Amino acid sequence: MISLNVNGELRELDDDPETPLLWVIRESLGLTGTKFGCGIAQCGACTVHLNGQPVRACVIPLAAAAGQSVTTIEGLAPGSASADPVQALHPVQQAWVEAQVPQCGYCQSGQIMSAAALLRDNPDPDDAAIDAAMRGNLCRCGTYPRIRSAIHRAAELARAIDFHEPAAPVAGQEPAPAAAQATGTGDRA
Ligand code: FES
Ligand code: FES
Repeated sequence: MISLNVNGELRELDDDPETPLLWVIRESLGLTGTKFGCGIAQCGACTVHLNGQPVRACVIPLAAAAGQSVTTIEGLAPGSASADPVQALHPVQQAWVEAQVPQCGYCQSGQIMSAAALLRDNPDPDDAAIDAAMRGNLCRCGTYPRIRSAIHRAAELARAIDFHEPAAPVAGQEPAPAAAQATGTGDRA
């Protein structure tokens, strides 16, 4: 059995330890918001947070995430039960709605997870910082201008509601090398 904290919940999994985390998330846990694109850490569609850091779930074996904290798009919003629509969504999600960012939508959960990680580290990124942080998340529909605008708007929203991302969960161990490798970003071209 391998234990993971997924979206704040302890999950016990008997999958093969070499199974990519993406398949565990989608198939074993039924969290299908995280998408499969390339399977080789090049497109960003599978981006989740591992101990608060954006990683490519398609190339992380389950064993490398053992005992650690995973956040998927389903766990990003701080409280969907809130009556306040701003509070109910993460500021990045709220900004995405306002800007109507998605076209086909396939890449968007990965985009949002990367954007949320960016704003955790840099609450007021300029265009260059946004482009640098997001360059590994590909969008074949070309929504990049709306993504950039939405990230600026998300930063405003976060300030307006004094939103603070929960601190990255403290895990029992450092992320495994495979996870660090998986944060590498590919170019869009
Ligand atoms: S599916 Fe993981 S980076 Fe493309
Ligand atoms: S919205 Fe279609 S791939 Fe990004």
